[in-house]
Amino acid sequence: MLERVLSARRAAQFSEGDEDDESKTRKNIFFATRVTNQMSRIGYLWPCLLLCIFLLIASIFIHSRNFVCVSSSAPYYHTNFFAIDGLDSDFGSLGVPWCRSKQGRTVEWTSKDLVKGLEEFVPIYETRPIINNLYGMGFDHSFGLWFIARWLKPDLMIESGAFKGHSTWVLRQAMPDKPIVSLTPRHPEKYLKKGPAYVDGNCTYFAGKDFVDFGSVNWGSVMKKHGITDRNRVLIFFDDHQNELKRLKQALKAGFHHIVFEDNYDTGTGDHYSLRQMCDQFYIRGGGHSCFRDSDEARIRIKRKKFWEKAVDIQELCGPSEAWWGVRGQMRDDFNHSNKAISYKEHFQNSRFVESVLDVYWELPPVAGPSLTHQTRYDPARASSPIVEDGRFGLFQRLGLSRLETSVFNGYTQMVYLQISEPES
Ligand SMILES: C[S@@+](CC[C@H](N)C(=O)[O-])C[C@H]1O[C@@H](n2cnc3c(N)ncnc32)[C@H](O)[C@@H]1O
Ligand SMILES: *[C@@H]1O[C@H](CO)[C@@H](O)[C@H](O)[C@H]1NC(C)=O
Ligand SMILES: *[C@@H]1O[C@H](CO)[C@@H](O)[C@H](O)[C@H]1NC(C)=O
Repeated sequence: MLERVLSARRAAQFSEGDEDDESKTRKNIFFATRVTNQMSRIGYLWPCLLLCIFLLIASIFIHSRNFVCVSSSAPYYHTNFFAIDGLDSDFGSLGVPWCRSKQGRTVEWTSKDLVKGLEEFVPIYETRPIINNLYGMGFDHSFGLWFIARWLKPDLMIESGAFKGHSTWVLRQAMPDKPIVSLTPRHPEKYLKKGPAYVDGNCTYFAGKDFVDFGSVNWGSVMKKHGITDRNRVLIFFDDHQNELKRLKQALKAGFHHIVFEDNYDTGTGDHYSLRQMCDQFYIRGGGHSCFRDSDEARIRIKRKKFWEKAVDIQELCGPSEAWWGVRGQMRDDFNHSNKAISYKEHFQNSRFVESVLDVYWELPPVAGPSLTHQTRYDPARASSPIVEDGRFGLFQRLGLSRLETSVFNGYTQMVYLQISEPES
């Protein structure tokens, strides 16, 4: 039952906000209509109509508190309503883990907004300075970062892990006039000598001999320099392959609220401890894995491994003493330069900590289904439904996605947008 309710909450990731401008009201009407359809099918039209009227009235009175994209709508309504169509949103036979947030809030944008964003972003992406960004971001995450930054409209963008500067360029496309701070050991200008790279004119680089790790920056002075008084207006982008629990605590301590993690690796994969790994628990669909060689999970994993390069079978998933959490019971950090065994208890406590600070957890869906993109790496059963679903070739083509080389679709690792705040005491 609990699992059912939680998977239903996952389905609410594209639910609508409760702000009082006209477009929001329209969205709420759409939402209410959808609920009516669902409920009338099972014959509860009258209570539903009353609920719809209540929802509409409620939507007029409830205001969003934050400058950005998050609705303060009541999660329990979502939970109950979406429980009816929760089946739509299950993620294949293995299921996927995700993180619970404190109040079950979700992002304001809808899949329609994402499609519109794609239409706009494809021509921008085609002008990228680094055409072949091997070891850096591909199309999916470039789109996700651009979309999130443009929606949030931060006053300052901070990135950790720039490589040749592709992500700096993406942030610049989203916000042409806002400052960027980039922390990266090797200055992107070093790459310029050998080939394409991007160095931004309005970016403060902590790079080369000026490099400082995110956890050691004097944020007070950086904020002062850029005239930032409200740290809620800052977007942090991590692509530095550090333990995400460590980064989460550092960001929290510095008073930041909006974070994107580029590599949100699935359980059993990746070179650092990720949000997804942390939240993989028995009470969440897809979590609490079985290490029995003779289990359904083992059989399904073996099968899927044949189709998808990055799928993991039970042997890779499970370490000594059937430790499946993190990567074979280990917490990786710093590109796997550090690798520490953790007990299940410790892992579980980490997940509780994460839940106590999360206001929003939103995974970017893959841009399009594998039959369209021809990606062969990530297992679609372990990802949310793509923005352009399999079979919708017309839309794929109309958005200009068919013009892109297929290799740009091979880097999807569940990029995630988080909103965080101190735990409630
Ligand atoms: C995967 S690459 C980043 C890709 C880049 N965001 C892009 O769009 O192509 C990881 C980068 O993190 C850098 N890095 C390593 N340790 C770091 C640290 N402690 N803080 C910030 N960056 C770090 C690496 O030098 C490398 O440039
Ligand atoms: C930096 O940003 C300012 C303010 O938007 C702008 O006037 C200036 O041209 C930018 N400089 C560069 C090098 O992009
Ligand atoms: C990560 O580090 C561990 C321990 O040092 C090592 O056994 C493992 O092979 C490494 N994995 C990868 C993918 O580098």
